[in-house]
Amino acid sequence: MTMTIGLVCPNESPEKRGVKPFLRWAGSKRKQLSRLAPYWSGEHKRYVEPFAGSACLFFDLAPPSAVLGDSNEELIQLYRVVRDSPERLHRRLCRIKRDVATYLRWRNQNPTTLDPETRALRFLYLNRNCFNGIYRTNLQGGFNVPMGKRVGEYFSKEDLLRCSRLLQTAELVAGDFSATLDLVKVGDFVYLDPPYAVLSRRIFKEYGSKLFGTEDMPRFEESLHAIVGRGADFLVSYADCKEARALARKWCSVRLPVKRHVAGFAGDRKTAYEWVISNRQRSTTA
Ligand SMILES: C[S@@+](CC[C@H](N)C(=O)[O-])C[C@H]1O[C@@H](n2cnc3c(N)ncnc32)[C@H](O)[C@@H]1O
Repeated sequence: MTMTIGLVCPNESPEKRGVKPFLRWAGSKRKQLSRLAPYWSGEHKRYVEPFAGSACLFFDLAPPSAVLGDSNEELIQLYRVVRDSPERLHRRLCRIKRDVATYLRWRNQNPTTLDPETRALRFLYLNRNCFNGIYRTNLQGGFNVPMGKRVGEYFSKEDLLRCSRLLQTAELVAGDFSATLDLVKVGDFVYLDPPYAVLSRRIFKEYGSKLFGTEDMPRFEESLHAIVGRGADFLVSYADCKEARALARKWCSVRLPVKRHVAGFAGDRKTAYEWVISNRQRSTTA
């Protein structure tokens, strides 16, 4: 069941449900929220996101309980610190100067030598001040993104407190998506937004070394059947490619136009297409 819809979304809700994510993230679905949110319904008991990144759909939906997972361990550790000590984290973040010399000093620190809170602070500071919110490491695993020129204001303390409150009921999993999917149970809503991998060529290369790739596609597909077999629903976002089209033919799917600017330069923005694939039609009650 396949259809293509235009750029304008008639279901944009004027009410603000959740909170903006506190991270900038390559591949974030912030601009597609109004198209994704209707798949969540009041019948779902729990939200599960195994490729969480900035988790913008989670923060937008504000579900009553959740499981968030990502293979990026520092990202998950940051979520733990936001959950447990948001005020102190915000205070410490605001005290750090936002200039190139300070940025490089923090970037050059070896994160493994820092205590967990300072390590999370470093991750957050670099994310908010680096070029385009990109997470990219060298072969040794060292973060190597330069400082951005237009980095924008930080979120407010109140916004971080709201994120923290939502994280109180979230189970946080650092690891491969299969570890998060092992926790899926009846009534869950599982949103899967893996990095795009096309014919062994990754469109997004920014998330680190233990990345989802084309070789993971067969077990990814199997896991969709396993989710449905457990009595849960799934929603997948995936770039338009041969693999996605094959997947889309088997489930309910919609092909959407999206503006992509991974390289970070306004001139490089292009309209690409992305599939939204689910075992169900989107809810009309959300
Ligand atoms: C496209 S991003 C998700 C973006 C997210 N939906 C958002 O709105 O910010 C993909 C995420 O998958 C994570 N990732 C890559 N390979 C993974 C794997 N094998 N298992 C779990 N997470 C993985 C990356 O660290 C990255 O955060």
